[in-house]
Amino acid sequence: MLPSMGNILSEIQERRARRAFSSQEVANDVVTRLLEAATLSASCFNNQPWRFVVLMEGFGIEHGYARLAQGNYWAQAAPVIIGVATRPEYDCDLDEGRQYALFDCGMAVQNLQIQAQHEGLIAHPIAGFKAAELKADLGIPADHILITLVVIGYPGTDNELNEKHQENESSERVRKNLDEVVFYGSWPVA
Ligand SMILES: Cc1cc2nc3c(=O)[nH]c(=O)nc-3n(C[C@H](O)[C@H](O)[C@H](O)COP(=O)(O)O)c2cc1C
Repeated sequence: MLPSMGNILSEIQERRARRAFSSQEVANDVVTRLLEAATLSASCFNNQPWRFVVLMEGFGIEHGYARLAQGNYWAQAAPVIIGVATRPEYDCDLDEGRQYALFDCGMAVQNLQIQAQHEGLIAHPIAGFKAAELKADLGIPADHILITLVVIGYPGTDNELNEKHQENESSERVRKNLDEVVFYGSWPVA
């Protein structure tokens, strides 16, 4: 492992994919701030390929809850779910498979997560949902990719979580060592 330089931003260090939500509402201006943070992300040619469908009380949250994968039962306690959609044609498509729409959406979601952490919120992205069905429910055109749902709310108690998820709430961070994923100067010889 390479020596750590420390001093990681607290929002990055402390953010976790937590699952224990409180039912406390998230104010509209807070939701708007998360979305603004997302849209301040960089994107290829400033194409801004991200589209967000906000689900909350009075705005179709029940559709989000209904299309969760079974293992994501915990997300039904969250007051806000933001669907992130794009289309490859919205962004750069360069040689060597370099399609940037999904990459840029990922960067926007990262901005949203950092802002959420700063606001004392959980913002947990998930892939476990029925994408085709939810796209149809929400009227998202078939040629768009609904790449993730970001499950958002204030932290709550873990009473409703299964045993594994209760343990996860306070588990250690699991990460590959830097020397497994960082190569200086050239790719390592196999
Ligand atoms: C694209 C993506 C999809 C994910 N899908 C799920 C999911 O369906 N259910 C879930 O509980 N967590 C999901 N996660 C959370 C990851 O499991 C979590 O980020 C990872 O284990 C690292 O933990 P940490 O975020 O607490 O550091 C997803 C995260 C990302 C970025």
